[in-house]
Amino acid sequence: MRTIVMTGATSGIGAAALKHFTELPDTNIFIGVRSNKHDVQPGTQVLPLDLSSLKSVRAFADSIKQHLGDGKINILVLNAGIKATDNKQLSEEGFELTFATNHLAHYLLARLFLPNMARDSKIVITTSDAHDPAVIPFGPKTLNIAELAYPTENSPKGMAFYGATKLCNLLTANALKLKVEAERNISVIAFNPGLTGDTSLMGKQSVPLKLIVSIIRPLFYMISFFKPAFFMGTAKRSGEALSELAIGEVALPEGSIYASLVRGKLTFPNPSQLAQNNDLMNLLWKESATMVGLPE
Ligand SMILES: NC(=O)c1ccc[n+]([C@@H]2O[C@H](COP(=O)([O-])OP(=O)(O)OC[C@H]3O[C@@H](n4cnc5c(N)ncnc54)[C@H](OP(=O)(O)O)[C@@H]3O)[C@@H](O)[C@H]2O)c1
Repeated sequence: MRTIVMTGATSGIGAAALKHFTELPDTNIFIGVRSNKHDVQPGTQVLPLDLSSLKSVRAFADSIKQHLGDGKINILVLNAGIKATDNKQLSEEGFELTFATNHLAHYLLARLFLPNMARDSKIVITTSDAHDPAVIPFGPKTLNIAELAYPTENSPKGMAFYGATKLCNLLTANALKLKVEAERNISVIAFNPGLTGDTSLMGKQSVPLKLIVSIIRPLFYMISFFKPAFFMGTAKRSGEALSELAIGEVALPEGSIYASLVRGKLTFPNPSQLAQNNDLMNLLWKESATMVGLPE
């Protein structure tokens, strides 16, 4: 029996990936959801999880562990993400909301679940090419962790702030790889779905938003021949790619950690230079541990 634990499975890319997971034989699937407004695929066990609260993250982890008993997790998918409208909104513990949801909550979940990961298991963290200034110009060129947790008037805003939280996902993936891969052959993958038009990341899929997407999609398609990151994919394809990586239908080249969906195809480039900076990786690991109340 295979066990999958997942965040961000109720909408967009995650919901599309979940559909593939539910078609797998002999698979137990647990998803964390923050509200019961969603119809969830049959065959899925739904547990409460609000990533904007570290208390809720711990309760979710405890509840999964109770369900597992002596069982182990084979695939952990940390996919949920937001881009808050400004960086003034706070999590329950007082951290900036996008940073707390995208990074801190998933960092804590990964650490809490490490003892429960099976040998030869996988951790997939959804990041974004917005982490890389060589691909997306507003991507972070430096990372000030304290400023992400507690932004000031001069801190990065909007997509630049979001991109910095996605750099945190990549640095965490790298740290997890270095810390646990050799130990139990746990593979770690940081997945960039690329620009995906029909999700709720930029707001609920209202009629005006759908109209805007349908107008810019062909325009972006033309631009993507010169700037591939402009290609606007679909949640269906992004979710399919996520599931292909998670269940091992597509394998990363030896030593790589980053899988990037570019114009609908999985590619394996190096992530940004900052994402490969081990000093920054260690600093983020250490400061995040302090923020979530774990030892280094
Ligand atoms: N769309 C893109 O262009 C794009 C590009 C690159 C990377 N990504 C990344 O892809 C991932 C999935 O995003 P998406 O585009 O599919 O967006 P989406 O449709 O908005 O899905 C986000 C998912 O995260 C969940 N979530 C958000 N806040 C939560 C919280 N506090 N507690 C629990 N769950 C929470 C949402 O739950 P609800 O259903 O309750 O809202 C939903 O299931 C994110 O990590 C995002 O950063 C997206």
